[in-house]
This record gives sequence, C-alpha cells and structure tokens, in this order.
Amino acid sequence: MLYGQRKLQLAKPEREAMARAGRFNGELMDYVRQFVKPGVTTGELDRLVHEETLRHGHTPAPLGYQGFPKSCCTSVNEVICHGIPDEYVLQDGDIVNVDLTTIVDGWHGDSSETFLIGEVSDEARAVTQCAFDCLYAAIDAIAPGCRVSDIGDAIVKLASGRGFSVVQEYVGHGLGQQFHQEPTIPHFPNRQARRDRLHPGTCFTIEPMINAGDRAGVTDKQDRWTVRTRDGSLSAQFEHSILMTEEGPQILTPTKNGPQPGHTF
Ligand code: MF3
Ligand code: CO
Ligand code: CO
Repeated sequence: MLYGQRKLQLAKPEREAMARAGRFNGELMDYVRQFVKPGVTTGELDRLVHEETLRHGHTPAPLGYQGFPKSCCTSVNEVICHGIPDEYVLQDGDIVNVDLTTIVDGWHGDSSETFLIGEVSDEARAVTQCAFDCLYAAIDAIAPGCRVSDIGDAIVKLASGRGFSVVQEYVGHGLGQQFHQEPTIPHFPNRQARRDRLHPGTCFTIEPMINAGDRAGVTDKQDRWTVRTRDGSLSAQFEHSILMTEEGPQILTPTKNGPQPGHTF
C-alpha cells in the first residue's frame, strides 16, 4: 500500500530502525523522569531533553517543526497538548505531560507521559489514570489486520464509563521517516477509521488525550500552539509508538522506570 509514494508496511531492516528510534525515545523519558519534580521549570526540562538528545548524536524532532520553538512539549494541568516549555515552575499538585520525539538515523520515536507533581487532587489522579488505562486498553484491543476504529472504540468506552471525555481534534498518527504521516489514528471511532486497517509492518502512535470535563479545546491566540480545555478542566495524555507485527502490537517506546501496564497512580 502506498500513501503519497511512502510505503506504510515496513520490512525488517526498517522495523529495526524504528525500534532503535523508539528505544532511544523511551530511554530519554527515563532520563528526564528524575528531574520532573516540584520546583523545576518546564524550560529546564526542555534544556535537559535537548542536551541529552544531542549528546547521543540524535535530533529533537519538535524543534523548528512547523515553527515550534522548543525540543519537547510540556502540557500542564488544563493544557491538552503542545504546551511550550518556559519559565513556569512546576508546583505541588500539578500534572504535566512531557511529550518527546526524537529522530534517530532519519527515523522517529514519539512518546509521552503525564507526571503527577507531589500530592495531587483525586480528580487529577483519576484523569491521569484514565488516560494511561485508555492507552493500554487500545493496545490490548488491536491485532494484525484489525480496524483502526478498534482503538477509538476501546478508548471511548473506557473514558465515557468513567465520566471523562476524549479529545477529537488531535489524533495519533503514522510514524516513520516523517513525524506525522498516514494512517490517521483517531481516539474515537469514525468512518475512515472503520475502513482503515493496521496491517503488519505499520508504525503509528496511540496518544489519547482525556479531559475531566468537556472534550473541546482552544488554541492560544498569542503563541498559536498551546491547546487548553475550553472549560478549564484538567487534561491528561499518554503516548507510545507502536509497530504492528505479524504476532500483534509491539511497543517501540518502552521505559524501564515509567509506569508499566496495570500501574495504579
Ligand atoms: N509529539 C506530538 C505528537 O505526539 C506532536 C508535537 S508537534 C510539535 O504528535 F511541533 F509541537 F512538537
Ligand atoms: Co505523536
Ligand atoms: Co508525541
């Protein structure tokens, strides 16, 4: 299958290149984890991500991507996604999503985690838990040749069952030599997703954004990146890069010290 001349189903050497990129991205998450604590600025986290990436000879994909000014995204509390690292000091009670994307030898790894800063509210913990559980429910729901909509079905069922909403404007995506490519991976079922299938050799992300309130988001008028919930409610997200293999989904961006499947926050 060809999408704009780009082969979606990767052969073994390309799958291995994607696995190397994903592995580094997961290691970078484990590196930055120790610094995600009360008192650190999001700008400092960005500097650490940037320097560690360059130290390994790799490239932070966000920097300059469609004009994005930093090397990662840091999305605090009501920020759904695309938060720009700055002088904001993380406070006890905050939740922050750190979204990392690295280019390793021309191939992309992309993953994110939401971190709880100190003691957080019950609602902050619950929405974070829900986003995490949605990611793994979606991974559990897919198999070689399945429909893309199996992802959205699993996520909407779980999130709505807990009284939370699923963001629709931002979606998972194919991943490879481009940051964002085919197929589109919505976290809710739609017509296109019911047609598209995840054949072995396809690399893509699953990255559900879950809001405690309404699903609607608003993009910051000044910086044109930061997306906040319209109602000011909390939002959480987790992301992995996935390779669909002949045996089932393989997580390309594992962490050693991050929350593992079944984790309770
Ligand atoms: N990492 C985000 C994703 O998961 C995209 C960030 S685009 C940027 O797709 F330009 F803000 F970096
Ligand atoms: Co992504
Ligand atoms: Co990402």
